[in-house]
Amino acid sequence: FHVDWDLMTAEKGGYDHFMLKEIHEQPKAYRDTMRGRISEDGRSVQLPELKITPEQLKKINRVHIVACGTALHAGLVGKNVIESLVRVPVETDVASEYRYRSPIITPETLVIVVSQSGETADTLAALREAQRCGARVLAITNVVGSSVAREADDVIITLAGPEIAVASTKAYSSQLIAFFLFGTYWAQTVGSQDEENVAYLLAAMQSLPEQVEHILAQAETIKSVAESISHHSSLFFIGRGIDYAIAMEGSLKLKEISYIHSEAYAAGELKHGTLALIEEGTPVIALLTQEDLYEKMISNIKETKARGANVLGIVNEGNEVEVAKSVDRHFAIPRTLPLLTPALSVIPLQLLSYYASLALRHDVDKPRNLAKSVTVE
Ligand code: G6P
Repeated sequence: FHVDWDLMTAEKGGYDHFMLKEIHEQPKAYRDTMRGRISEDGRSVQLPELKITPEQLKKINRVHIVACGTALHAGLVGKNVIESLVRVPVETDVASEYRYRSPIITPETLVIVVSQSGETADTLAALREAQRCGARVLAITNVVGSSVAREADDVIITLAGPEIAVASTKAYSSQLIAFFLFGTYWAQTVGSQDEENVAYLLAAMQSLPEQVEHILAQAETIKSVAESISHHSSLFFIGRGIDYAIAMEGSLKLKEISYIHSEAYAAGELKHGTLALIEEGTPVIALLTQEDLYEKMISNIKETKARGANVLGIVNEGNEVEVAKSVDRHFAIPRTLPLLTPALSVIPLQLLSYYASLALRHDVDKPRNLAKSVTVE
């Protein structure tokens, strides 16, 4: 009797790579991060782990979100979420820059640090600098007992589970869920959103896991696009508003594991220089999930098409027919509230980079020159 037992395969739960396993774990990560934090009647967020009192939260008039890499990209979405739900101004900053630029911090400043590992040296140094200047620090991290979790004044733990692949997927998207929860909690505390809006947001949030499952079931469609882009040496991700934040994450993911050079651009900014780099066949990944910016996006896409770009549009279900007129290929994501789309639109981009890396036969889980957690400044 012989069992061919491969421990690594067992740990990967039958997937070829940790990254693919972790991409597929996102519905569970979303559910786990939301569990117990939305009241049973679905009408309010409860974050009993926060020590900051409602009175203190009401006094906060400025937010700095500080992080590195993928976590910073979650912070860019967080900025959109807090500004639109709470109407408090938010700045985002690269952790390695933050402490050296003498940031303007008052007792009414809340600094939010985001870190999957909770051990990134630059993020930890920024946290300490913020506290030294008198700010209250809230950490969003995936690791209980990490340095960041221990030193921050308040902690929201993401429940993504251990992330092994260097390229972050489920930790990133769970950070988005943490921002949705915190933004909603803050809005309900200060009354910047009425009860119906909060209930509406929470209902939409609770549909996200199932919607991610629906996207994952179409992974094969993305695989064929990924194989075609893997022959190119340069491409662009474009979007407006919150889609621009996702474009940045999509571009980073692709660079990290496929080593294909790409740039993320605010779509309206292309014409101020970058269009010069678009030539016959250059792949452009265009995000079109924000319907109020839709017409503007279409005209930016046309600018790239006129120079020969090959465009993949990431669109909302129901808009495919319209978008198909302006792009070469499209991928539809289920409908949700505009603010919540990042939790869905990032999934096809993660799959795109995974399959591109696979097509190029790179080490998907352990890309060259990168470490999962960087503990030097
Ligand atoms: C490293 C990883 C990135 C990660 C960044 C921040 O550079 O390669 O994937 O986004 O650190 O990590 P953290 O653990 O602080 O989220």
